[in-house]
Order: sequence, then structure tokens, then C-alpha cells
Amino acid sequence: MAETKTIKFHIRRYDPKKDKEPYFKTYDVPFQPGMVVLDALHYIRENYDPSLAWRYSCRMGVCGSCGMLINGSPTLACNTQVATLGGTEITIAPLPNFDIVKDLVPELSKMFEKHVAVSPFIVRDEKELDDEKGEYYQTEHQLEQYLQLTYCIRCGCCMAACPTLATDPDYLGPMPLSQAHRYNVDTRDGGRKTRNEKTGSSHGAFKCHFAGECSRVCPKGADPAKAIQHMKRQLVFDFLHLIKNQKPCEKQHGPGNEPKKDVPPAPPYTV
Ligand code: SF4
Ligand code: SF4
Ligand code: FES
Repeated sequence: MAETKTIKFHIRRYDPKKDKEPYFKTYDVPFQPGMVVLDALHYIRENYDPSLAWRYSCRMGVCGSCGMLINGSPTLACNTQVATLGGTEITIAPLPNFDIVKDLVPELSKMFEKHVAVSPFIVRDEKELDDEKGEYYQTEHQLEQYLQLTYCIRCGCCMAACPTLATDPDYLGPMPLSQAHRYNVDTRDGGRKTRNEKTGSSHGAFKCHFAGECSRVCPKGADPAKAIQHMKRQLVFDFLHLIKNQKPCEKQHGPGNEPKKDVPPAPPYTV
């Protein structure tokens, strides 16, 4: 019978309640075909140390909670096949550029505060359900302007890779900036001028020096670096008043756009 290959996992451990500083501890894990890094962490917790801490939820690259530094690159533990890493030694540490809660758990609150600060939603004067008839139409070209950025799962891997964020913790960073751009270029949105106050600030898009690391590590192919360069051009054009006063697109009414009869009415507002 073939011998099972053993992988050595060097894992950075840190419990702020008892450790003065982080340290690495090594665990042997038997390799199984198809094993992802997340499986190895479960093995370690079940067989060696139940106190090992990390975040995860979906196990399928969707929730964005299992971002960590694997062999020096920020990526998702559930989406990283051990076999593709090569060799028999793997080093795992928490995402850089974040404070650490415990072991592999980064403190993501500041990233989400920056995200919220750029109003990452469609801003319009009227509520969509105020007029329940009609639809917002977009051409394929208009959809393409932001579609790629909708794949972002807020995992923070781009923030961990960004050299600017490493030197300026107040820099908005690739995720919040690219998400601001996602809404700025959506024809249904009217919030660009308000977002400019943040995105054009001294900690905004012009701090990015286009190293492109954020896009290189993004596990969803969202390309925040490209979005930020487009945003810089938009900010300059806005500053020079070269962008026509764009209004968010109106709902289209007409034959074929009446609500279908057998569809139940929208639920009442809950907040
Ligand atoms: S842009 Fe990519 S790397 Fe950054 S938070 Fe979104 S999915 Fe993660
Ligand atoms: S392109 Fe800009 S946001 Fe992305 S890693 Fe480089 S400096 Fe950071
Ligand atoms: S567990 Fe959800 S992205 Fe990895």
C-alpha cells in the first residue's frame, strides 16, 4: 500500500490573552487528494489543538471570511488546493495590514468602516418601491462597466497585499475604492459627487501608485487596481467640470413593463 504523504504546516499562532508576541508552530497533516488548506486547518484543530482560531463559513469561495496568508500570498483557504502549492511544507499566517484578533483571525472592522463610508449602494432620491411599475434598463455596455466589480466578496486579500495600505493605515484601500467605483459607474446611481469627498481625499484614489498587487491576488478576478485608475480619471474630470451633469437613469414604463398579474405585491418596508 502506498505511503500517505505528510505535509508540514507552519502556522502562526497568537493569543493576545497569553502570548507576548506571535510565534510559529508546526503540525504534520496527512495529505489527501483534493484537500484544501481549510481541510488541513480542521485536521489540526481536531487532532492537535482545538484552540486554533480562524474564520470560515461557506467553504466555497463565496463568503469571503477565510482570507489568510498562504505561503506568503493573501488568498482563500477554502479555495486553495494543497496539491497546487507544491512541496511538503506550507506556511500560514493571518492577513497582513490588519490587527490580529487571534491566530489567523484578522480584525476587519476598519476595512468595513471604510467600505460603509463610500456609500456602497445605489443612491437615488426616490425609493425604488415608491413606483412599483417599470424597470431600469441598462445596455450590455453599461452593465460591463461594473459587472466585474460585483464579484467582490470583501475578503480583504487585496487590502493585505497593498503596499500603500502598509504605510498609510488610513488609505481607503482597494476594496472600498473599487466598490465606490462600482456604484459611480452604475447608470442607476446618483451618488458619485458625494463619494468624491472620500475617494478624492488625501487618503483616497490618488494615493494608489498602481502596483497592481491587489488585482494579482484577488481570488474573484475583480481587478480593483484597474477600477482605481479609472476612478482617478473620473475625479480629475469631475474637478475640471468635464463630466456632464449626469442624472441617474429613469424607470422605463410602457407596454410590457406593467407588473405581472400573478406576482404577489412587494413586502412592506421593515425598517
Ligand atoms: S477585490 Fe478581490 S481581493 Fe479585494 S476584497 Fe474583493 S474579492 Fe477580495
Ligand atoms: S494598485 Fe493601488 S490599491 Fe492596488 S495594491 Fe497597488 S497601491 Fe494598493
Ligand atoms: S469559507 Fe467562505 S470564502 Fe472561504
